[in-house]
Amino acid sequence: MAGPTNDNIQDKLLDHTYDGIQEYDNPMPRWWLLTFAGTIIFSVIYVMNIGPVGNGKGRIADYEASMAAYAKAHPAPTGGDMNADQLLALAKDHEQLEEGQETYTAYCASCHAPDGGGLIGPNLADAYWLHGGAITDIYNTVTNGVLEKGMPPWGKTLKPAQLAAVVAYVSTLQGTTPANPKAPQGNPVTP
Ligand code: HEC
Repeated sequence: MAGPTNDNIQDKLLDHTYDGIQEYDNPMPRWWLLTFAGTIIFSVIYVMNIGPVGNGKGRIADYEASMAAYAKAHPAPTGGDMNADQLLALAKDHEQLEEGQETYTAYCASCHAPDGGGLIGPNLADAYWLHGGAITDIYNTVTNGVLEKGMPPWGKTLKPAQLAAVVAYVSTLQGTTPANPKAPQGNPVTP
């Protein structure tokens, strides 16, 4: 029964053989090829994220929008003067407080004790302050220091971001109970 079907099969049998096996040309179905080509075209559009496909603004704009949203959620301390709102915002930011704690441990713990209870420097966990306990007062004291009393000025030593973060961290020591608290110095600050 030599029909057209058999002829087609003969046409697709290629001449060469591997290890006695003759190659049969069996192309992928058209729908498969079209789908495959479609995925390639889609990938190009997707990567560029142009026009009505994707978000439409392009990857760079998307990236910048994400970064801006992040910066808004995590206010980055800038140089110069920080106001109370900015400092209080840092004091609620988990990452900033962690950085502040690192700075505190590295630069402040030697004089104020690791838990803020005070050694050479005053207790930072109690409600008594020599130079004011508002967060902006702490910022000023840490920035300018009280050199004649042994508190170094940190404004030039620390980066602005470190300085702001360590002040935010110090503000969170309020009301904690250090292991060996130094006796109160200065005036009480009523919250
Ligand atoms: C070399 C020791 C020393 C180091 C290091 C040090 N301090 Fe002090 N600090 C002091 C002394 C002493 C005082 C008290 C100054 C005074 O009597 O007026 C003080 C005061 C302060 C005050 C004011 C307390 C108050 O009652 O008003 C703050 C806030 C403070 N330090 C934070 C810090 C921070 C934050 C760091 C680290 C970045 C730091 N200090 C590092 C010695 C130190």
